[in-house]
Amino acid sequence: MKILLTGGAGFIGSAFVRLSLGLPDPPHIVNLDSLTYAGNLENLEGVAGHPRYRFVKGDICDERLVTALFTEERPEAVVHFAAESHVDRSIFAPSPAFETNLRGTFTLLEAARQHGIGRFVHVSTDEVYGSLEPPLEADENYPLNPSSPYSAAKAGSDLLARAYFVTYKVPVVVTRASNNYGPYQFPEKLIPLMISNALENRSLPVYGDGMQVRDWLYVDDHCRAVMAVLAKGRDGEIYNAGGTCSLPNIEVVRRILAATGKPESLIQPVTDRPGHDRRYALRSDKLERETGWKPQVPFETGLQQTVDWYRGNAGWVERVKSGEYMNYYSRNYGNRQQELESTSIHARGH
Ligand code: NAD
Ligand code: DAU
Repeated sequence: MKILLTGGAGFIGSAFVRLSLGLPDPPHIVNLDSLTYAGNLENLEGVAGHPRYRFVKGDICDERLVTALFTEERPEAVVHFAAESHVDRSIFAPSPAFETNLRGTFTLLEAARQHGIGRFVHVSTDEVYGSLEPPLEADENYPLNPSSPYSAAKAGSDLLARAYFVTYKVPVVVTRASNNYGPYQFPEKLIPLMISNALENRSLPVYGDGMQVRDWLYVDDHCRAVMAVLAKGRDGEIYNAGGTCSLPNIEVVRRILAATGKPESLIQPVTDRPGHDRRYALRSDKLERETGWKPQVPFETGLQQTVDWYRGNAGWVERVKSGEYMNYYSRNYGNRQQELESTSIHARGH
């Protein structure tokens, strides 16, 4: 099979490439990635010379390039990972999320419609369901209720994917996974940020009261879910994929401190994220029933492997932090502590 993969230089896409090319009879993979701040060819060094792998640097919004790739490569499947994936960045600057997540998905669906495709896996997220009160868990029919520019754009792209299936019979399948973690994750998301800060003895900025709940899924388990849907999913269907590991953020942070051997005094409460979703929760029994998929990596094992990876790859962390990362860091975290201090001074009536 030949796959046109998008976003394969990012965290999850690169794990998918490494896993797929490690199979006994690997697919041909054409990796289209524009190498934003989150795209990193270092993540793919081990497979760059593989005979069934080709990298193309380019934007999924570039209609001419996407059309040329469909004509030249004639992919049998699209696996669409590319996105602006970080909620905080989408809050500061929403435009890239709308361009890539919505218009980019439209460009790919349109090319698939015109050229024909055997399968189009649109990789989406449980964030489209928004925040759920306990004990609710979202199945695939749960209403879309996104809160951030990132998740609104993802929800829009899910609807576009559905429209292309219903109207044009493009064989689209949508996956909605929970929070991923593992090696090679850009240190802007909770787990890699907290690990890398802990290893450098920096403070760990916990938003609000730290009691927001996320479900954690090891990245390779997510990739296996996408592979299962690619092979066995039904056209037009949506499949949730969760890790069956729901934890409040503060508990995740405490476990990271324990795994890195650092003190809890590093925890630093900071101003909350605007519009912060309190709790995500989802059911993945449809995916399990129809494809036999199940998450294989328990959180304790996955977290330890992730901590070990960051400890052993300080050079990778240093290099990704050497770009615009520090600008982002001071923009996102610079005022948060001061804001919190001034709020608590007001609350004390000074
Ligand atoms: P990431 O930010 O690590 O990687 C995104 C990749 O897409 C990068 O390589 C980047 O260069 C590329 N890209 C961005 N804009 C592009 C464009 N216009 N054209 C071509 N390439 C572009 O993201 P990730 O965490 O690996 O997420 C991958 C996908 O999985 C996303 O669609 C995301 O919504 C979804 N997802 C992520 C999580 C998670 O916890 N990270 C959970 C569920 C679903
Ligand atoms: O649920 C799937 C989604 O998970 C994906 O679709 C997104 O691409 C991915 O970024 C992730 O979104 P979250 O907003 O849940 O992930 P993030 O790692 O940014 O934050 C996880 C939780 O930790 C959230 O409640 C906010 C909190 N947090 C995050 C950061 C970066 C902090 O308390 N401090 C921080 O510094």
